[in-house]
Amino acid sequence: MTHPAFADIGACVFDAYGTLFDVHSAVGRAGKSLGDKADSVSALWRQKQLEYTWLRSLMGAHADFWQVTGEGLTYALASHGVDDSDLHARLMNQYMGLDAYPDVADCLGRLRGGGKKTAILSNGTPKMLQAAIESAKLGEQLDHAFSIEDVGIYKPDSRVYQLAVDRLGIERDRICFVSTNAWDASAAANFGFHVAWMNRFGKEPERLPGELSAVISSLEDLPGLLGL
Ligand code: LAC
Repeated sequence: MTHPAFADIGACVFDAYGTLFDVHSAVGRAGKSLGDKADSVSALWRQKQLEYTWLRSLMGAHADFWQVTGEGLTYALASHGVDDSDLHARLMNQYMGLDAYPDVADCLGRLRGGGKKTAILSNGTPKMLQAAIESAKLGEQLDHAFSIEDVGIYKPDSRVYQLAVDRLGIERDRICFVSTNAWDASAAANFGFHVAWMNRFGKEPERLPGELSAVISSLEDLPGLLGL
């Protein structure tokens, strides 16, 4: 049954990393030599990557997501006593072809089939996003991929969410935003999107401004919210 908040949605806008693409698939594929440190390196890599986006935005010292991702990885490896530039390069290379989660293609297809626009709104550079989309064969199901590089500041700055409104030409209250990252979901709701937080990993909601319209545990549940 259509959820009232999603009754008049023109477009669904998705976060990329952690929502459509599995950031931990990089270490899963190319991090065998890390042995029992692999999961811990992958988690710290992701944590540092995000922290560096927030800190650089506050510092007014923007660098693109490829650089920040590399610096986060350098920190994560060094923290685990690993100094291996070949491994660093191999892991970074994987970032260009991360696995898409299994529920992504069908969800996007159902939304498109129901007449909704579909887009990515991500910290990733245009090159990173195009590579991930091509590798996961999602090009047919996505109308747009918007990169924060066009505003030069990272999520959760409101200029990022405004970029999607401007490019789509759809008012913020007719946009459904979907993210697994709870802080991104809260910020997008605070901006004025109708947000479905996809709580894939059973996490606590953030104690941040922004009222979430719905919480789902799989993308399979999204088209139903929109009455599709
Ligand atoms: C992104 C990060 C936040 O794709 O996952 O924007």
